[in-house]
Amino acid sequence: MKAARIHGPGKVTCDTVDDPSIRDSRDAILRVTATAICGSDLHIYSGGIPQARPMTLGHEFMGIIEEVGSDVKNLKRGDRVVVPFPIACGTCFFCQHELPGHCENSNTENYGPEGGLMKEKGGALFGYTDLYGGYDGGQAEYVRVPFADYGPRIVPDNLTDEQVLFLTDIFPTGYTGIDWAGVKGGETIAIFGAGPVGVMAAKSAWLRNAGRVIVVDTLPYRLAKAKSTAGCDTILWQDDPKKVVEEIRAMTDGRGADVCVEAVGFEPERSLLDKAKAVIHLEKGSPKVLEACMSAVRRGGFVSVLGVYPTTYDNFPIGQFFDKGITLTGGQAPAHKHIDTLLRYVIDGKVRLDDIITHRLPLSQVSHAYKIFKEKEEDCVKVVMDPSK
Ligand SMILES: NC(=O)c1ccc[n+]([C@@H]2O[C@H](COP(=O)([O-])OP(=O)(O)OC[C@H]3O[C@@H](n4cnc5c(N)ncnc54)[C@H](O)[C@@H]3O)[C@@H](O)[C@H]2O)c1
Ligand SMILES: [Zn+2]
Ligand SMILES: [Zn+2]
Repeated sequence: MKAARIHGPGKVTCDTVDDPSIRDSRDAILRVTATAICGSDLHIYSGGIPQARPMTLGHEFMGIIEEVGSDVKNLKRGDRVVVPFPIACGTCFFCQHELPGHCENSNTENYGPEGGLMKEKGGALFGYTDLYGGYDGGQAEYVRVPFADYGPRIVPDNLTDEQVLFLTDIFPTGYTGIDWAGVKGGETIAIFGAGPVGVMAAKSAWLRNAGRVIVVDTLPYRLAKAKSTAGCDTILWQDDPKKVVEEIRAMTDGRGADVCVEAVGFEPERSLLDKAKAVIHLEKGSPKVLEACMSAVRRGGFVSVLGVYPTTYDNFPIGQFFDKGITLTGGQAPAHKHIDTLLRYVIDGKVRLDDIITHRLPLSQVSHAYKIFKEKEEDCVKVVMDPSK
């Protein structure tokens, strides 16, 4: 079959590999009908999150069940499903506490309580390096889905793939940023990053009756897309983060936003000086966007960190965190927890997800797809690929 595989930084190619097969009685084999590239895949593509051996990428996918193991009673051949991106068993301590990203049974080699740099990581994720379980992902014609009696959700026939595909990751992830902050209605929410995750956070903020939604990005075309698809206010981050913070305070009677959502991660646009500082501190990338969130949030407010941070960072503003009494939450989104509620929103027409798609490409053009998404070429916001082509 065809599969998108990583061969070191900057190199993803469409290769021919063996078809997957059932290895456990709780497995299913899925024929993938649509798959997308996530900003998280770009961290592997850049080398920021390392992967030595070639592996099939992709954790945003859906398709048709081909085959099920003997213990999968809730699915049958021909069912059309979306699959949440964490691989979770459904029965361990963390799964029972609605924390599927921390499942104790999926990442058998590299799981542990510490959350270290290169060991003791969380639960497994599809197609997300050996540190996160080493499972092949869904940017392929077929994928093996472990614990298939727990993750996949059947979707209605009258909805297209593009209408439901983002239930796998970015919609539950954006929603999680709002849910962690306990948004009840009326709040001002500032979202840093107008990528797919940031836009989904903005859509989710409205679903939870936010009073005002402000999205910040360094790229005008991304802000234009956020405005047209999520009806938010926008702020262009140019050179000085202080100006962004001042603008947010000016919009909130000088207080700051009730909630800041960090949807950029550790690889923002950086100056040469920023890069040199990171080398000296043995840091990967920069926490500058997280720092801006800590300044832009009001006293007693909430910061949700959806963007990925893989290393420690010196000078983390712990004093500011304490003085302002900020509630800080982050991590892999518990997609399983929200997927049914969010599918209902889609079925009821309360939210539209497919309006962020800018590129539809065959899987055979995956190298090009990664390049334009990473380099922000061709006004790319979200790429959906067809594995049959
Ligand atoms: N927590 C989770 O479960 C989860 C799930 C999916 C994605 N993610 C992470 O969320 C982050 C965003 O993902 P995405 O798919 O939207 O990726 P993306 O790369 O398309 O979006 C990031 C956006 O940040 C913008 N940006 C760069 N520097 C900035 C700055 N200084 N200020 C404001 N904006 C800036 C970029 O222009 C881009 O629009 C990534 O780190 C990704 O790994 C986390
Ligand atoms: Zn993702
Ligand atoms: Zn589990």
